[in-house]
Amino acid sequence: MSNINEISKRRTFAIISHPDAGKTTLTEKLLLFGGAIHVAGAVKSNKIKKTATSDWMEIEKQRGISVATSVMGFNYGDYKINILDTPGHQDFAEDTYRTLTAVDSVIIVVDVAKGVESQTRKLMEVCRMRNTPVIIFVNKLDREGRDPFDILDELEKELQISVRPLSWPINIGAKFKGVYNIYEHSLNLFQPDKQHVTDRVEIADINDPTIDQAVGEADAAQLRNDIELIDGVYPDFEVQDYLDAQVAPVFFGSALNTFGVKELLDCFVRIAPSPRPVEAEERKVEPSEEKFSGFVFKIHANMDPNHRSCIAFVKVCSGVFRRNEVYKHVRSGKNYRFSAPTAFMAQKKEIIDEVYPGDIVGLPDNGIFKIGDTITEGEELHFKGLPSFSPEMFKYIENTDPMKTKQLNKGIEQLMDEGVAQLFVSQFNNRKIIGTVGQLQFEVIQYRLLHEYGAQCRWEPIHLYKACWIESDDEQALEAFKKRKYQFMALDKEGRDVFMADSGYVLQMAQQDFPKIKFHFTSEF
Ligand code: G4P
Repeated sequence: MSNINEISKRRTFAIISHPDAGKTTLTEKLLLFGGAIHVAGAVKSNKIKKTATSDWMEIEKQRGISVATSVMGFNYGDYKINILDTPGHQDFAEDTYRTLTAVDSVIIVVDVAKGVESQTRKLMEVCRMRNTPVIIFVNKLDREGRDPFDILDELEKELQISVRPLSWPINIGAKFKGVYNIYEHSLNLFQPDKQHVTDRVEIADINDPTIDQAVGEADAAQLRNDIELIDGVYPDFEVQDYLDAQVAPVFFGSALNTFGVKELLDCFVRIAPSPRPVEAEERKVEPSEEKFSGFVFKIHANMDPNHRSCIAFVKVCSGVFRRNEVYKHVRSGKNYRFSAPTAFMAQKKEIIDEVYPGDIVGLPDNGIFKIGDTITEGEELHFKGLPSFSPEMFKYIENTDPMKTKQLNKGIEQLMDEGVAQLFVSQFNNRKIIGTVGQLQFEVIQYRLLHEYGAQCRWEPIHLYKACWIESDDEQALEAFKKRKYQFMALDKEGRDVFMADSGYVLQMAQQDFPKIKFHFTSEF
């Protein structure tokens, strides 16, 4: 099997963080090491957002935040790296969740002063559900921050994963002198300089007097104490534990100063998984299989509002995707040929002839694809694992232009297929309810319905707390529940029963009163 080489070279991952922890800066520095961009530090983080990620959408330009996820591929040594960018803005968490289904591993960026923040915690839940291996980068060591041991404790507790430091800082903030690389037994001295990559000092081991000369005796002694403590407290690092998502290696550094980034990258390419087998409903699909298969994890609307063309982002799971071959779109059963598939290399998209497992291929889409669709060489495969989470905000959507009902319905349907938000239809009054994770999504939907479909809508408040997918082994109990709660029952896009609880208390009471009903907060159970 000739593509084993190609597969083992690939590292497809996402960088996730709470907004402002330094994800964009770190991404930029990784691109720099890959030669995908040439100026470090001097490039403002917001500028890179515009150039390194796509800005096809008008709205994205308007608001200056990255609405959609994109892919940055580059070569680093013998490796082909694909970074799947995840929108940092908290309103777009849905998008981010979905992107995590297409990666083989994750790097989490944490701000040393702020520790684990809400967004990070949520994203880690998704990683845990999928057993995704994670590496943690504690950032902004050049600023005053928390004690590194405290940070490690917090990471373990908040992210519910064992950690193992692979580098260790010598002081923090104004006194920050560098990091000791536990993984490679080397010392990296910090020189605050945003333009250049810092050189490292070779040392024999932790007792090497070079360390005393480099950082002073007192700090060298402290470092030795810390390392002794770490070695005593944390078990030796085993790559397999990381791959099994049992242990998260931790690195310290400063993305802005390109400090500790190369060490992170070098360790990452060595230990991070190449494309992993993917579970389909029918069977497990190995990347090394000869026949092509892949799934759509993201649909990105085109900027041109006049004709609705999109790009579907397909993760190649097995075989080789080839331009102009005929592939089966499993949901519709139809065959399609793609003459202009695009690869994503750093800042540009280009037409590509062959795409290997782990890579992402962009397919022009005139409305054939939905999130989660599978394409194959003919086999009926349905890839699992694109959960919907209960939205946090809900509104009724109302048509304000009766002449455009058709356009509005089509627009809603397509935006939901794209995964912009979730649609529920009340079983009680048939009204459409849109659920999002943030206020901004309502504005985006309204804007896009108008500009792309010529449909006008307004939002009407509805007080809801959570959407819970319900099921039961006991058909009668299920019917009884639905009858009792008929005013609060809705159907999701797939026609599944959803209980729309209007308060935490109501939900708690329902759970107590109906013990035979299972309440799920994600659509995957
Ligand atoms: P995000 O994508 O996770 O939202 O974070 P981003 O990289 O945009 O970084 C957020 C802010 O933190 C930026 O400052 C960035 O320069 C700063 N930053 C990132 N890494 C470090 C670091 O290692 N040390 C320090 N001191 N700061 C860091 P900003 O003022 O919002 O933007 P800019 O004007 O500097 O671009």
